[in-house]
Amino acid sequence: MVEFIVTPWEVKGKVDYKKLIEQFGLKELTPEILEKIKKYTKQLHFLLRRRIFFAHRDLDWLLAEFEKGNKFYLYTGRGPSGKTHIGHLIPWILTKWLQDKFDAKLYFQMTNDEKFLFKRELTLEKVDEFMYENMLDVIAIGFNPRKTKIIRDIQDISLLYPEALKVARHLTFSTVKAVFGFKESSNVGQIFFTCLQSVPAFIESVLRKRNVPCLIPLAVDQDPHFRITRDVAPKLGYYKPAIVHSKFLPSLKGIGEKMSSSEPETCVFTTDPPEQVEKKIMNAFTGGRDTAQEQRKYGGNPQICPVYYYYLFFFEQDDKKLKEIEESCKSGKTLCGECKRMLIEKINKFLKEHQRKREKARRIVNKFLLK
Ligand code: TRP
Repeated sequence: MVEFIVTPWEVKGKVDYKKLIEQFGLKELTPEILEKIKKYTKQLHFLLRRRIFFAHRDLDWLLAEFEKGNKFYLYTGRGPSGKTHIGHLIPWILTKWLQDKFDAKLYFQMTNDEKFLFKRELTLEKVDEFMYENMLDVIAIGFNPRKTKIIRDIQDISLLYPEALKVARHLTFSTVKAVFGFKESSNVGQIFFTCLQSVPAFIESVLRKRNVPCLIPLAVDQDPHFRITRDVAPKLGYYKPAIVHSKFLPSLKGIGEKMSSSEPETCVFTTDPPEQVEKKIMNAFTGGRDTAQEQRKYGGNPQICPVYYYYLFFFEQDDKKLKEIEESCKSGKTLCGECKRMLIEKINKFLKEHQRKREKARRIVNKFLLK
């Protein structure tokens, strides 16, 4: 029996991250490696401390290179298939922190081609509308405009295509079939697409005409693409990119699912107005008991509670306060209604600020685009 599935285009069931480390062949993010990061960053980001980022590939190598003075650049991306939700921000927030701490350049890829190929219902016009809206969220995160370039696959294809071809020549149909589960009936664009997602993992080396290490922060569903990249890059004379992998922020309907833009009630969008946030959170599944009386007596279960995960992933960055939230749930001191109201307030405070930055971003989008 398969209890969960994680592919770039489908995440289903309750993900067992330990098993995923085995299945994908990842390395766990250990205290030793976090100590090495801390050597350069002084503190540790809460997303690392809490193991929301839980796995990596070659991060030890990347840090050893950095130690030797061989600086790395960052690469991450977004497939513009809809509005941005809070879950999407998780890898971007760590990326921004890494950019600041390591003074690193960032390539941010917008895969408008991918979403056109994989989502029948989307037109080219529609993916570009989403792309523009998503770029505002990316910029609102606060990336350094002098050190960040957004790559839009369709618009910037003349930069990407020669490099994608080099990847393609080393990649067979049987490999992509095995990695992604494509069928004879898959469209041919889908079969080629991973070549394009590979390119930014070595584009800095192409442009600088010397090898530059690359670190890719991503949600773990994107890892299969980069297994291919890591296989092919050395054949083209480039380093394998290093990767850090994050978990998924659970759906508001329960932790068995990823948040999904296609089901608006499962997630909070960055553009949601306060009333909408209130409604979504008040209707969320929780780890609470059936009655207040039972909850006072037996306490709730944070481990299965999306509301708790929202605090853990984002909305309570102080470890002591998070512990208090957890304890007063387990002891029955706080009931779900109260806990939810506190969360709504925090989300709305964050969104007010984010939406303000998002509007400001409209004026500076051009600074982030490739020339
Ligand atoms: N395919 C990703 C998505 O659907 C977007 C993406 C492109 C990406 N390049 C990436 C994500 C690198 C993480 C890292 O969202």
